[in-house]
Amino acid sequence: MSITIKGTGYYLPKKIVTNDELAEIVDTNDEWIVRRVGIKERRIATCETTEYMAAEAAKNAIKSAGINANEIDLIIVSTITGEKTAPTVAASVQSIIGAECPAFDMNSACSGFIFALDTAVSYIVRGGFRNILVIGAERVSKIIDWSDRSTCVIFGDGAGAFVVGPGNGYLSSILYSRGDSSVIDIPSYHGDSPFWTDEASGKPYIIMHGQETFKFAVTRMTEDINAVLEKAGLSACDVDYIVPHQANMRIIDFASKRLGIGMEKFFINLDKVGNTSSASIPIAAAQLNESGKLKRGDIVVFSAFGAGLSSAACVIKW
Ligand code: UT7
Repeated sequence: MSITIKGTGYYLPKKIVTNDELAEIVDTNDEWIVRRVGIKERRIATCETTEYMAAEAAKNAIKSAGINANEIDLIIVSTITGEKTAPTVAASVQSIIGAECPAFDMNSACSGFIFALDTAVSYIVRGGFRNILVIGAERVSKIIDWSDRSTCVIFGDGAGAFVVGPGNGYLSSILYSRGDSSVIDIPSYHGDSPFWTDEASGKPYIIMHGQETFKFAVTRMTEDINAVLEKAGLSACDVDYIVPHQANMRIIDFASKRLGIGMEKFFINLDKVGNTSSASIPIAAAQLNESGKLKRGDIVVFSAFGAGLSSAACVIKW
């Protein structure tokens, strides 16, 4: 026994920011961003908090599952951008939607949603949980250095959510961590303690070595997807859809060629949504589900990578 995905939902902030608008802030242009990354526009929160976006995505997932908020037994939120350390984003969602259940946050950066989904599987297998809300929610724009053109053009804000329950749809998974801040580093606020002496504490913004991240991403996507397919006793030709972390079109293109899985099987929304960190996969999966293309029994692979360093993949029988 594992899980089945009972419902999906997502929320995107109202404000659309185009590449031309970013060219007014930093030295960049639409042609470079489209050619090197594939993003045309992204959504940036103007007043929507991470908690608000998470709760809106959750409400949509609950509606799609055909249940009520009081039937949720557990809420797990993957985030690196909660507006507060406490209450957690998950606890805030519980309050906003009117659920009565335990709620906690997890952090494995951009790979976090799959780590959270994998955790939900363990609770379901343990027994006693009928409906678990798993959410990825990020206001990445608050940890961006808006003068750094190599990062501010690639990220966006949003949230995605699943309601999962007992079933047989989680065929295999892989979780990978390699503690390493040399490729991507996101320091947190280091406080004002009069006793703190570490002058080297950085500003709380994403510092990313793009090309190193790119190589890590292509390698991990390829290895992780091959590994989860093998564990599930499947091959590339059994795959109906791959929902990849929406970081860069060229990363997906390289992975597609190395895996021997055609680009038509990859669900892409990064042109309109950008990289929303751990919200990326649940937003894309919810949009794919909403499109009506997915059929019960389809084989769907999720694959994510990011800071940590971390990566994760899983195979779902829809
Ligand atoms: O979710 C976390 C995971 N993150 C990722 O997956 C990111 C992976 N990396 C990437 O997507 C790409 O490496 C970037 C999009 C970040 C950068 O693209 P790139 O093709 O690797 O560019 P680069 O860093 O090699 O830089 C090439 C040139 C440089 O100029 P010079 O030194 O050749 O004159 C950069 O300064 O492109 C320049 N550049 C830009 N030019 C216009 C970098 N950013 C920009 C920009 N607009 N926004």
